[in-house]
Amino acid sequence: MNTPTPGYADVVIGTQYGDEGKARVIDDMAAAYDIIARFNGGSNAGHTVEAQGIRLALRQVPSAVLYPDKILYVGSGCVIDVEQLKEETDTIKGHGIILSGRLKFSSQAGLVQPHHKIIDAIIGGTIGTTKNGIGPAYADRAIRMHENQITNIRLGDVLDAPEKFLEAIKQNYYQAAAQYRFADHGLEIDIDAKIKALKTSFDEVKEYIEMDTLFLQKRCEAGAKILFEGAQSFMLDVNKGSVPYVTSSPTNAAAAYSGGDLPPKYHRKTIGVAKAVMSRVGYGPFTSEMGGTESEQYCMKIDAAGVPVYNRDNEKTLDPAALIGSDFAFEMGQAFRIYSREYGTVTGRPRRVGHLDLVQLGYAIAVNGIDEIVLTKCDLLLHYVDTAGGDIPLVTKYMLDGKEIDYVPGATNAYGRVEPGYETVSGFSQDVGEVKEFSNLPETLQSLIGLIEQKTNCAVRGVSVGPNRSQYIPKENA
Ligand code: GDP
Ligand code: IMO
Ligand code: MG
Repeated sequence: MNTPTPGYADVVIGTQYGDEGKARVIDDMAAAYDIIARFNGGSNAGHTVEAQGIRLALRQVPSAVLYPDKILYVGSGCVIDVEQLKEETDTIKGHGIILSGRLKFSSQAGLVQPHHKIIDAIIGGTIGTTKNGIGPAYADRAIRMHENQITNIRLGDVLDAPEKFLEAIKQNYYQAAAQYRFADHGLEIDIDAKIKALKTSFDEVKEYIEMDTLFLQKRCEAGAKILFEGAQSFMLDVNKGSVPYVTSSPTNAAAAYSGGDLPPKYHRKTIGVAKAVMSRVGYGPFTSEMGGTESEQYCMKIDAAGVPVYNRDNEKTLDPAALIGSDFAFEMGQAFRIYSREYGTVTGRPRRVGHLDLVQLGYAIAVNGIDEIVLTKCDLLLHYVDTAGGDIPLVTKYMLDGKEIDYVPGATNAYGRVEPGYETVSGFSQDVGEVKEFSNLPETLQSLIGLIEQKTNCAVRGVSVGPNRSQYIPKENA
């Protein structure tokens, strides 16, 4: 009898605070794999792919959707919003893409229940969550039961015994409505109508639920090559990130195996995605932020109704060319945000932007055992030439209370006190968007990449110079 050669798995994670371009890297790499699998998070993710004339902002469906022959798997580590999923799958199908038979959700993935989003709306503001109910969904998973009521409801439970679990969802709503005083917040809903809507969406997407909990493992044993796609990013890890300003799931590379339903023995390598000009959404430390606290307060400012005061629309009136040369780092940051289109996909809220931090990156690489880095958004570095300094600053040193450290402090307060030390490389004026060969990139950009490799002790696998699949340049060709 011929035993098949087993496959292997590679893991892609973001190394910074999210939105590094993980999806475009997955899309760039997917051709060499059979299955692309998510292992954490849910609709809080916004993953953009752009190829074949299509631009998709994916939330819960893995990013290899544009490859018709790839299986798309979503593991037990995820929490799923079925109403959002129904909309997302409709959008994807609207592009003529077939999902039947290739989109699979673990029956053990959690279900985001109606009360989760309402609780998130009430308590998520101080962190600046995406308000998708992610924290409360993971909290209910950990609580398991409240008195006699099951709080950890999974996709497979609803598929197996819909009436029992839809009733449990209703009871969980009543319990949460009393505990969090939904009525006082004006956030009560008609739960019967909501459950009806949820059931309608569930029926539309239930064909994607995979009851075989060994699905991925069996495929890998039979030779399938798996590419894990991280959501959120390492600095937002529930345990290792800048707690409490983090998401509610583990985002680190090792989590791919527990949340992605595969034994770690299949692991081959880990790829980290970093972006050349960093961003962060939500509160929390951001050492290299252009404009520091002023920028954080501006980006996070909300009105009495909790709506962001500043957004993509009101920044449209600003002229980045006039701001980029400003002596005020805050204004320079505004210019980078406009050039880089750093606004939340759903809310349009401004993302905080900062210089590339090689101490933080080196730490993420070390903790996750990252083998290769992809540096995205290198085209944005062009704008540094118009800044007051003209050079590209990179954080290469952390000072904490007068001592140099080579790690991200475990205490978030202490992280807030870190003083960054900078080195610079010269700016460049060449538009790199159409460059195809690594050796044709400006010399100063090549030396910046060399500096990253030297400071982080990690190889750069390639760079991206624009959002489209065609704008990825592998470094092997150098
Ligand atoms: P993810 O959450 O890590 O998958 O990243 P997002 O999709 O949320 O955010 C990345 C954004 O940058 C998207 O709008 C991409 O289209 C865009 N993008 C990705 N790579 C590049 C690049 O190399 N250059 C530019 N200018 N934009 C890019
Ligand atoms: P992708 O996968 C950037 C941030 C939120 C908030 C914190 C907690 O597209 O990189 P949550 O809704 O998860 O409870 O919010 O985490 N956050 C993200 N920031 N990219 C994301 O996803 C994010 N998902 C959550 O802004 O600060
Ligand atoms: Mg994103």
